[in-house]
Amino acid sequence: MIPIYEPDLSQLEEDYLLDAFRSGWISSKGDYLAQFENSFARWVKTRYALATCNGTTALHLALLALGSKSGDEVILPALTPIATANAVTFTGATPVFVDSDAASWTVAPDDIEKHITKRTRGIIAVHLYGRPARMNRILPLSQKYGLWVVEDAAEAHGARVLGRPVGSIGTIGTFSFFGNRILTTGEGGIVTTNDDDLAELISRYRGQGVSPTVTYWHDLLGYNYRMTNLTAAIGLAQLERVHEILAAKQRLSRWYTERLASLPEIELARPQDWADDICWMFSALVSRRDEVRAKLSEAGIDTRPFFFPVYKMPIYHDPTLHLPITENLSKRGIHLPSSPRLKEEQVDYICDTLIKIVHKTKPVRISPTIRPQKISEKVKTLLRADS
Ligand SMILES: Cc1ncc(COP(=O)(O)O)c(C=O)c1O
Repeated sequence: MIPIYEPDLSQLEEDYLLDAFRSGWISSKGDYLAQFENSFARWVKTRYALATCNGTTALHLALLALGSKSGDEVILPALTPIATANAVTFTGATPVFVDSDAASWTVAPDDIEKHITKRTRGIIAVHLYGRPARMNRILPLSQKYGLWVVEDAAEAHGARVLGRPVGSIGTIGTFSFFGNRILTTGEGGIVTTNDDDLAELISRYRGQGVSPTVTYWHDLLGYNYRMTNLTAAIGLAQLERVHEILAAKQRLSRWYTERLASLPEIELARPQDWADDICWMFSALVSRRDEVRAKLSEAGIDTRPFFFPVYKMPIYHDPTLHLPITENLSKRGIHLPSSPRLKEEQVDYICDTLIKIVHKTKPVRISPTIRPQKISEKVKTLLRADS
């Protein structure tokens, strides 16, 4: 099986991890943590970077520091992992789901504006699958209505908007370092910001709300969301190799695009001239996505579907909500294997197989001259499956 993703780990990660282990600093204090946070802040170009134990806790800390609470509304795209919505719910606020943009697949700024009410406090702009959200429209909106903006960059390390790294543009940025992320630490996350007060609050919420000056004195309801020095050692090595990893991802994206972009049966996201994407997953839209996935699996190619719209899942179920672009993307989207170490011959095999499959599963088009009663049962079944 060609896996959907394999982490790109080298001798450097092993050496740093072993060094951290042998130092005895295995909990949430140690040189690797400080170096990782400082290097990440320099790389993303923010004043602060605060490491956490995963991307969900990074989001939760961001929202806590921004004062999100019961009665508030927070706008976010419906096409996102449940983690983004859950972080809002943890604070007592209500997530308000909006549609995506058909060209870039990220949150649609016009739909954000339509959903702003007196209770709206902020926007979470998700940089989905490595594609930046339209920050050049979202920031002016946030200024117009006095809202904060959290950039959820869990899937977009290294992407840029008009030359600025994601995670440095909004009020706060958050990243994940799960095993299949562009940079990984196994599990891990980080919060980035330029704001001194927010950074202090995030640090305190992360460490059980402890006072910065009095030992064992806690004056905030905080959490233990810290990263370990062992984890940070892997993160520092990944960061020192980030240019190599990003170059591999760009190469992979070029290989896939060259082979698939001109096929009418396969739709790719349109590149945006204001954005430098980073191909976290190479993704496409196809008809009969689940059938295509099953056939790719039979050929030894692992894939993933796009996320479900969050409002379809039991916790957030809203039968009155219908976001057409989100639902279309969710139904047709597929991720192809995207490990940085994938070889060009493997991409050839994946694309050749996919092309053969989509040609065979091409939707049947009925000519308007065919009368409905003449349509065979087989074609009716095909049409139902394609609708
Ligand atoms: C966009 C986005 N935000 C947040 C998260 C949560 O990150 P983690 O899995 O590290 O908690 C994920 C991962 O599922 C994600 O893809």
